[in-house]
Amino acid sequence: MPAEPLPIGTATGPNPVAHVETVAFHGIDVRPIDVQVQITNGLPAFTVVGLPDKAVGESRERVRSALHALGLALPPKRITVNLAPADVLKEGSHFDLPIAVGLLVALEILPADAVEEFVVLGELSLDGAISRVAGVLPAAIGAASREKGIICPAACGPEAAWAADREGRIPVLAPGDLIGLVNHMRGTQVMAAPQPKVAEDALAALDLADIKGQETAKRALEVAAAGGHNLLMIGPPGAGKSMLAARLPGLLPPLDAAEALEVSMVHSVAGLLPDGRLLRRRPFRDPHHSASLPALVGGGMRARPGEVSLAHRGVLFLDELPEFSGIM
Ligand SMILES: Nc1ncnc2c1ncn2[C@@H]1O[C@H](COP(=O)(O)OP(=O)(O)OP(=O)(O)O)[C@@H](O)[C@H]1O
Ligand SMILES: [Mg+2]
Repeated sequence: MPAEPLPIGTATGPNPVAHVETVAFHGIDVRPIDVQVQITNGLPAFTVVGLPDKAVGESRERVRSALHALGLALPPKRITVNLAPADVLKEGSHFDLPIAVGLLVALEILPADAVEEFVVLGELSLDGAISRVAGVLPAAIGAASREKGIICPAACGPEAAWAADREGRIPVLAPGDLIGLVNHMRGTQVMAAPQPKVAEDALAALDLADIKGQETAKRALEVAAAGGHNLLMIGPPGAGKSMLAARLPGLLPPLDAAEALEVSMVHSVAGLLPDGRLLRRRPFRDPHHSASLPALVGGGMRARPGEVSLAHRGVLFLDELPEFSGIM
């Protein structure tokens, strides 16, 4: 009887690949990224491939230390992390947590099927704490549309919880550190679900009543606020132009639910949501006239929303307009 051919892989034992889903951001759109982790025999190494930028490449050191804080040493084997699709540039620090979770699955510390149901993002500290990252709100909305849950840093939990509430009850895990996540997924300690939060109206808006006279200018301001028009103010120094313009946000109505979501998404991607709370007040952006073109319109090496995008559904106030070197 002829001997059966050996199945491929038997020489070194099976090397299953652990899969964890995370996201890459394109503006406020999210693109799913598959983090693949494989541990094979060979010279000890830990490589991250799949077009990582500097921050993602450095995640190796943070992941190694965070696992060390769990009391785990990486095995002296060849560890390869692939971020697929390989042609999309991976930017940001939120890849730390999915890489660590992928390693924990590959080491059979976390069950693969439990992790499969989540989109994972978060940055790791050396002591295993999970720090806040930008873009949790759009990531959670993207996860919900694919009927997946989300694992995000505790500081961003309210953002994710808000998306989960709105898009139909997806599970949200917001661990403060890696050990909390491992204990929760292994069923030894249950984590509380985060609650959605909305930003309080911090400081009262400036009041039009402060302005003496200037009835025509005030009327123009009201018409612009009511119709959503642009305003160009021209006048002698000290006539009160800056003062008038700063009072425009006070005339605008609060954001409705759909607008609040849009505005909060842009701020989430820019990492500007305070404590993961959703914004209710219209943004008011007054960049200095020395601001560069990328600061104003966004883009650049690391594409971030610029002042124009951050002022979406609010007011963009260009004081001393002719001085703006970036746009004039
Ligand atoms: N109508 C007004 N009512 C009350 N205070 C005023 C009025 N107009 C001007 N002021 C006072 O004058 C100061 C200067 O006004 P503001 O800075 O708005 O002028 P501006 O038109 O922007 O001048 P510039 O062209 O130099 O920027 C204000 O801070 C305010 O104290
Ligand atoms: Mg002025």
